[in-house]
Amino acid sequence: MSRLQHVGYFFSRGFGPQGWGRPDWAWGWDWRRPDLYQQAVRELEQAGVDLVVAEDAVSLGNPETLDLRVRSAYGGPKHDPLLLAPYLFAATSRIGLVPTVNAGITPPYLAARQAATLQHLSGGRFGLNVVTDTGSARHVGGAPPLDHDAAYDRADEWTGLVRDLWRSWEDGALADDGRYADGSRIRARRHEGRYFDVTGPLNAAPFDDGRAGEPLVVSPGGSPRGLAFAGAHSDVQLAYAPLDVASIRSYRARVHQAAREAGRRPEDVRVLFWVKAEVVASREEAERVVAASLDPSDTDLLAVAGHWSSDLETDLTAHDLDAPLPPDAFGQHVSRGTLKGFFAGVGDPGATPLREVLLRRSRKGLVAKREGLVGTAEEVADLVEELGEEADNDGVLLSGDLHPVTLHRLLDELVPALRRRGVLRRELGDGGLRANLFDF
Ligand SMILES: Cc1cc2nc3c(=O)[nH]c(=O)nc-3n(C[C@H](O)[C@H](O)[C@H](O)COP(=O)(O)O)c2cc1C
Repeated sequence: MSRLQHVGYFFSRGFGPQGWGRPDWAWGWDWRRPDLYQQAVRELEQAGVDLVVAEDAVSLGNPETLDLRVRSAYGGPKHDPLLLAPYLFAATSRIGLVPTVNAGITPPYLAARQAATLQHLSGGRFGLNVVTDTGSARHVGGAPPLDHDAAYDRADEWTGLVRDLWRSWEDGALADDGRYADGSRIRARRHEGRYFDVTGPLNAAPFDDGRAGEPLVVSPGGSPRGLAFAGAHSDVQLAYAPLDVASIRSYRARVHQAAREAGRRPEDVRVLFWVKAEVVASREEAERVVAASLDPSDTDLLAVAGHWSSDLETDLTAHDLDAPLPPDAFGQHVSRGTLKGFFAGVGDPGATPLREVLLRRSRKGLVAKREGLVGTAEEVADLVEELGEEADNDGVLLSGDLHPVTLHRLLDELVPALRRRGVLRRELGDGGLRANLFDF
């Protein structure tokens, strides 16, 4: 049997119109109601998925790029995934749920209180995916946005403070001696930091298992500063990296080193690698999908441009496909990391026609040849197994929307293939999310 791994699911475009623009839309699920997600998450639980991480961004973007965001329902409209959590908990009993929360705009006391509440309501199945997006700050008033690293400094303080608030109630504070609680064991400490001045204590009930009962902290930032944050705070790091043994080993080593530098044990952080696999029925179909991606029509290229336009908050579809993008195509509001991803592998962006950049971004590869992620369930399972065996990988983060059709395409054959290899557990334990993630 192979090394058992954890599996997460990244609900990648968040709590918006699932299936829009695809034939699946005709199934007639109403994305605004909870039933669709409840059905999907029940199936993920059945599949043995440890946790669902729900993407979020609170902003619909800038006025000049609003249309890009909503044209293909790419960046909005969107519900708040925190508020989906209770519905999903009510529909399941073991799977964990981790909505995204922006440490730059959510007051730490409120975040600590909401997370504690959901942790109690769910029997220990809750976590927070902590992000530092600075572009949304303008919607909530308050301080001006910070730069990239300063936003992480603030997130460091925010996360420490949230945890400190969870620890407001000392052991034995629940008295059970004729009094409900002993007020002398509740710490009303004031935190005066660089970014926050907050007075405790938290009015939420303490967790039965103390620190082991706290909600999970998850993080996705991949920069050196992001990894330092993970090392200091995270129970789970969501990793975006090439899926080869050397890259996985190197990424894991950097997270583990960051944990050591923060005085933690490397094994206290689970690292899950993002795997956006396209599972098809046969090798022939995989070859057809890859070949089509190498020779896209202009309509296909414009669809790729449309997706990137939303992420880049810049309308690429308005530019000539056969000329390089002009130097002033991207404003200051555009994420440098996203730009880097868009031009990855492109020699000189200033001299490369847009068509070639889009061609590179649309290009797919066979998982069997380790050139991409298109393949049969067996071939995808081979890759996952190999990463566990040869790179000691903790697990993978599958990704997609929460439409049942998406899940069936991805999981119907992949779950049995992973189970046959002993890579995927047969069922989740009932001790909560932390217990499931750290039981092997
Ligand atoms: C798997 C994964 C999930 C992410 N989810 C979100 C999200 O829900 N909201 C968000 O604002 N950013 C999200 N991000 C972006 C990260 O927060 C971060 O900005 C990005 O990975 C760049 O890393 P850096 O900020 O450390 O440079 C995600 C990234 C990854 C790899």
